[in-house]
Amino acid sequence: MSKVAIFMGSISDEDKIRPCAEVLAAHDVPFTFTVTSAHRTPERTRRLVAECEAAGCQVFICAAGMAAHLAGAVAASTIRPVIGVPVTASPLGGLDALLSTVQMPPGFPVATVALDAAGARNAAWLALSILALSDATLAARLVADREGFAASVEKSAADLETRLPGRV
Ligand code: RP5
Repeated sequence: MSKVAIFMGSISDEDKIRPCAEVLAAHDVPFTFTVTSAHRTPERTRRLVAECEAAGCQVFICAAGMAAHLAGAVAASTIRPVIGVPVTASPLGGLDALLSTVQMPPGFPVATVALDAAGARNAAWLALSILALSDATLAARLVADREGFAASVEKSAADLETRLPGRV
């Protein structure tokens, strides 16, 4: 049973969005990963949202480029949290997708993260945080992840200070 659905507007978005799936998989969170378009397959998009909801999906992650309306279209079809990942796919360098994704009307929020792979990763981390509200085991893993991030900074600092000792 998928807890998270990842939708992309085009298969051409896959390389940028795959890191999202990798973060979820690394945390043993079941997810659906597919392509659906706000404009070219509006009915498929609505049907997928309904099917995912019925199957227990808690969070939707939607990635799209250009006139990126996928996250907004999904937000119009569900009251569950929707996270939007703008994708760089045009000469406008992703600003088009960023503004299309973030500027939602009141009552239809899309939690918009950074562009491309960095945003895709954080979309997964945000989805994990949402799921962890009702999953103590996952919450404990996220706390351990934070400790791991801190340890890696400490290690980098120690390595640098060994290679290039300075004075504090
Ligand atoms: C592509 O157009 C994108 O990267 C993107 O996801 C997509 C949006 O598709 P439509 O919803 O406009 O069909 O180039």
